Amino acid sequence: MAPPGPLNLQNLLTHITDHWSQRTIGTLNDYEIKLAKVLGEFVWHSHQDTDEMFLVLSGTLNIQLRDRDVILHPGEIFVVPKGVEHCPKADEEVGILLLEPKGVVNTGNAGTDRRIDPRPMEEVLGGRGK
Ligand code: NI
Repeated sequence: MAPPGPLNLQNLLTHITDHWSQRTIGTLNDYEIKLAKVLGEFVWHSHQDTDEMFLVLSGTLNIQLRDRDVILHPGEIFVVPKGVEHCPKADEEVGILLLEPKGVVNTGNAGTDRRIDPRPMEEVLGGRGK
């Protein structure tokens, strides 16, 4: 799944139209590099076995923690430590890059109908290039 060349994150984001659906753009050993657009509030959850890295590419993301809000602007990064409850919230559309181990469930321990498993970026591109 090694990309043949550089991937332009902003260009790739323009091809993503649905929200909360992660698209895998590459791998790093056992980790997946994923892009997503998010809008609205997700669900409170935690990941018992892994940290979760958020990098905001566009918009402003509020990663709600139980004791504070973490506000991320474009170019800002935050790692939610494993086991820590969080609930991402976006008042307007936000583009994010996620880095986490393969197999991580986006809803963590919450077990709700908000679960969407990552899918390949190629599905979105439909042969239109990057
Ligand atoms: Ni999470």
